[in-house]
Amino acid sequence: MGRFTAILLLLSSFIYTNSFAQDEVKVIRAGQLLDVASGSMLSNQIIVVRNNIIEAVGDVGRINIPAGAIEIDLSNSTVLPGLMDAHVHLTSDASVNGYDSLSRSAIRNALYGSYSAGLTLRAGFTTVRNVGAAAYGDVALRDTIGAGEVSGPRMLVAGQSLGITGGHCDSNLLPPEYEFRGGGVADGPWAVRQKVRENNKYGANLIKFCATGGVMSKGTNPGAQQFTQEEMDAIVDEAHALGMKVAAHAHGTEGIKAAIRAGVDSVEHASILDDEAIQLALENNTTLVMDVYVSDYILETGAEVGMLEESLAKEREVGAVQRESFRRAHAAGVNIVFGSDAGVYPHGLNGRQFAKMVEFGMTPMEAIQAATIKAAELLGLENQAGVLNEGTFADLIAVEGNPLENVAVLENVGFVMKEGEVFLNEISD
Ligand code: ARG
Repeated sequence: MGRFTAILLLLSSFIYTNSFAQDEVKVIRAGQLLDVASGSMLSNQIIVVRNNIIEAVGDVGRINIPAGAIEIDLSNSTVLPGLMDAHVHLTSDASVNGYDSLSRSAIRNALYGSYSAGLTLRAGFTTVRNVGAAAYGDVALRDTIGAGEVSGPRMLVAGQSLGITGGHCDSNLLPPEYEFRGGGVADGPWAVRQKVRENNKYGANLIKFCATGGVMSKGTNPGAQQFTQEEMDAIVDEAHALGMKVAAHAHGTEGIKAAIRAGVDSVEHASILDDEAIQLALENNTTLVMDVYVSDYILETGAEVGMLEESLAKEREVGAVQRESFRRAHAAGVNIVFGSDAGVYPHGLNGRQFAKMVEFGMTPMEAIQAATIKAAELLGLENQAGVLNEGTFADLIAVEGNPLENVAVLENVGFVMKEGEVFLNEISD
């Protein structure tokens, strides 16, 4: 062989080993595997993970195990796709409430997020949708996690939530001489379009706006609509034109209906639903993200952690009604996706909501689908996450016990892999 050919061969083998040298292959033996797409439980499955992606899934014996693969034995566990929470606030510390919250800078809150992100990931949530943060702290956190500098779930973020002056998405704690307002406050159709564009400019993935008052904000009425139909139409039109989905916070019936009519992708909380609201959600294929656990935490612990007395009073009105709405909306066939509002309650306890969703009418499988395959659709991650298929992200978790028999086992996740990397392994064989 000529010298030139030899050098070429050497060079190409160098390039070959270099581009493949870092491939890491893992093989997972799953005793049980929850197939959320078909809604069935499979036994004795093998999952082959190459780097961050699933390369193959199937019955033991039918899948070739690549030589040199790292073996992970979950043969005594149930494996399922990494969970998704469509409504969190990672930059909010549940122990800081009311006037205390004014002492925390947006930077401090973003750094707190690097802690809550780890709690959330180790609880089995490999993807979250963060629906609102001050000063784009959520964008910074998403990018820090994405760069691998901090452990946390994949994040889709809303940036600064849009709201009317004095509304739930404003900050109403200080008197006028402080001239203090939320970063996403805007009034009028062109002003709200400008806020949508600003969020897009600074890296938000989606838009969140407040279509009614809320529980935790000072001086707002959860039942009352905020923004006119015209303003909501403008927000959704602008966001969709920019390729961003829209989530509307809404407790009261009129605000829920106006948001659905405007064409939002999801209504958050959706507390006070009448038949017409349910009908509208069905006709418009609107997803409801209903945080049906958090009420327990607010009513049991809210006073202790300094929530405003006003908020506790509002929660007593809204909480039980929301749970009844959940039952009716689910029975009517409305699409419901898992969203917890963690941040109002401690991060890492997200999984407590599964048992509530079952208590209020879902089967365990439906509750799990709401936090996997259905959540992936709402987040625009269909065929990338929320299922365990060839070509999807290797995001998976394992629990001891069968979540279809007792969904509360999801409160104790023993194994977490996100994009092929193991972040928790407490499974004992
Ligand atoms: N962030 C929401 C708000 O302040 C929390 C609502 C919690 N209550 C409930 N029942 N989901 O309005």
